[in-house]
Amino acid sequence: MAARLSSAAGRQDHEHRRAAVSSVRRVTEETATPATTEPTLDEVVALCKRRGFIFPSSETYGGVGSTYDYGHYGVLLKNNVKAEWWRSMLQERDDIVAIDSAIIQHPRVWEASGHLAGFTDPLVDCRTCKLRFRADKLEDAQCGRKPSKRPGEGPDCELTDAREFNLMFETHVGPVVDSASVAYLRPETAQGIFINFKNVLQFARVKPPFGIAQIGKSFRNEITTGNFIFRTREFEQMEMEFFVPPAEAERWHQHWMDERMRWYTDLGIRPDNLMLRPHGADELSHYSSATSDIEYRFPMGFSELEGIANRGDFDLTQHAQHSGEKLEYFDQQTKERYVPHVIEPAAGVDRAMLAFIVDAYDTEEVEGRQRTVLRLHPRIAPVKVGVLPLVSKEGMPDRAREIFESIRGRIPAEFDEGGSIGKRYRRQDEIGTPWGVTVDGQTLEDDTVTLRDRDSLEQVRVPVDGLADALEVRLTEPWRSPKLSD
Ligand code: GAP
Repeated sequence: MAARLSSAAGRQDHEHRRAAVSSVRRVTEETATPATTEPTLDEVVALCKRRGFIFPSSETYGGVGSTYDYGHYGVLLKNNVKAEWWRSMLQERDDIVAIDSAIIQHPRVWEASGHLAGFTDPLVDCRTCKLRFRADKLEDAQCGRKPSKRPGEGPDCELTDAREFNLMFETHVGPVVDSASVAYLRPETAQGIFINFKNVLQFARVKPPFGIAQIGKSFRNEITTGNFIFRTREFEQMEMEFFVPPAEAERWHQHWMDERMRWYTDLGIRPDNLMLRPHGADELSHYSSATSDIEYRFPMGFSELEGIANRGDFDLTQHAQHSGEKLEYFDQQTKERYVPHVIEPAAGVDRAMLAFIVDAYDTEEVEGRQRTVLRLHPRIAPVKVGVLPLVSKEGMPDRAREIFESIRGRIPAEFDEGGSIGKRYRRQDEIGTPWGVTVDGQTLEDDTVTLRDRDSLEQVRVPVDGLADALEVRLTEPWRSPKLSD
């Protein structure tokens, strides 16, 4: 079972440091009229571009369909999401180990896993507009001709019969391009875990129930992409394969559904925007005996965020048969030999990011002006604190920079001196920075600064000595989305 870290020591430390931050005076400069609205996908895309989170890839060459580049804040947010996943897998438990396997694996891996034969979507071509569509998703697609209609509905549409299209990207390994050099970019990170089962068993001194976790890029030549970073051809996955005695599989499946739902809500996603949806028998993947999807209420409706599957012994048995290597566990105590069953929580990094951004996006009126704010959980916010001189004179920028230099080693911070203070607050709000430190005239007299809270807009005065402590305390405090109604 999972061994939860004791937080008692952390709590004590936290209370001690909180007491040190004593001199507090409230100064509220901004008052907000809450008007929480849910964003459209276009608004999210616009904010991500405006603030340098995510850009369409290869824009200088006209773009390349559905691929995206992550800018500075996108990288920081993505890293924080991945770090929180690793923390939940490795730091908060002691029954999971990490791996980082190769993207290009032996082609027979994909034969054994069933991807070569079965990782397909039904494809139809339109002979008129030359576009291609997923035959099972025609209701979500648009014909290439105007006025826009569903494929097959226009008078000139001429759809071919459906044929199966393999989603794996093919490449060649080495200088000779022939059938012997064919290889594939991995369509999931999971197989790199199964083919390392024996190595991990041998070298990591683990026994079932135990897990192997991996984060990495996967590639799928999706017929239909779209909805921004929701479905792309190149994306990152966070997958964990949990190996259990067969009789315990159902119990662990339930455990991982609960744990993974909790991960999202702990990081601030509103529970009403999440749901667990069991797959019907006709939707199950070839390897799965039971799967439930965690779905999120994206702007285009509830859609899959993560799948939690009971893969049974499918993968280990397949790889054992194809490689001739025994992939099983021998229990020294019971003298029992068995092929462990696998429970797999499989999440998408990019999709999780999109859900965190959508859930956090908010607009409200502040003193007659609209402000857009990303109410991200402070633990995943790209920058934790902006350090801002009130004005660009009277020594404030220099003092602000000194303060920034003194705290940046302890907490991710940003120094921001260009433009009016109001504009700089709005900028930090839009990138989701939970706290702002403002250096003003009083700072130069008594060495205190104002600490502004992104969500409540409350400002308190704190001494510079102890500022990093005050911020660290806030970062470890429980956090609840202000968008949640009581
Ligand atoms: N190993 C099991 C597996 O790969 P999956 O449901 O196909 O299962 C897991 O993928 C997760 O990966 C999905 O829930 C989703 O978050 C993400 N994902 C899958 N295809 C994606 C795509 N084309 N673009 C972005 N994310 C994708």
